[in-house]
Amino acid sequence: MTAERRKLVAGNWKMNGLREDGLRLAREIAHRAVAAGRDAGESLACDLLICPPATLLSAIGPVLAGSNVMIGGQDCHAAAKGAHTGDISAEMLKDLGCSHVILGHSERRVGHGESDAIVRAKLAAARRAGLTGILCVGESEAERDAGRALAVVEAQLAGSIPDGIGPQEMIVAYEPIWAIGTGRTPTPLDIAAMHAHIRAVLGRRFSGGNGVRILYGGSVKPDNASALMAIADVDGALVGGASLAAGDFWAIARSCG
Ligand code: PGA
Repeated sequence: MTAERRKLVAGNWKMNGLREDGLRLAREIAHRAVAAGRDAGESLACDLLICPPATLLSAIGPVLAGSNVMIGGQDCHAAAKGAHTGDISAEMLKDLGCSHVILGHSERRVGHGESDAIVRAKLAAARRAGLTGILCVGESEAERDAGRALAVVEAQLAGSIPDGIGPQEMIVAYEPIWAIGTGRTPTPLDIAAMHAHIRAVLGRRFSGGNGVRILYGGSVKPDNASALMAIADVDGALVGGASLAAGDFWAIARSCG
């Protein structure tokens, strides 16, 4: 971690959480964050973000107030408003107090057919609305087995980053598809190689590319988080399953140092 790139631990709740459970989880995380803020010995070496389902954003926002825990969306539409039944714009997320939005998650790329061009338009929309987009990239197992992981991710970056965006306006999350929700992770060497590659691609893409945070995501748990967070160029984690238990999420945050 460099001084300019403080680590970020982001919880992606996906489609989980009815009001009662979601509010309880948010309260527990906020409570721990407030306590950590009070006690210097307990203070965290990372920023915290939770991305609950859109249905809970307005209820959870006030729960997090004063805690330093940020809130974000899991997706947005490229347009600011209009005839897009069921969609949510980046401006709407901003209006609810969001600071970030996850974009191009593999569950959207694969499950909803989102191309790099669609993700690029969404990232531009996030920027327009004043949100930091968390751009997800990552290879399938077949692509890794074929030795194509670096090339696949490079192509996703080339296709998904809009012109004009600045390094402080986006975050990259490297999430190998085969590691999501499976309990499997790449080796530390493979993660280091991928993050170094992403860093190099960003450096070629824009000046200040060194300032972009690159998160790792895919089966991050309390028992592997310290090792993952110690890998060069890993600037935090995007956490799915383990973000649904406050104790686990907190343990991962504490592993940042
Ligand atoms: P996981 O999900 O931590 O449950 O593997 C990560 C993600 O999809 O962002």
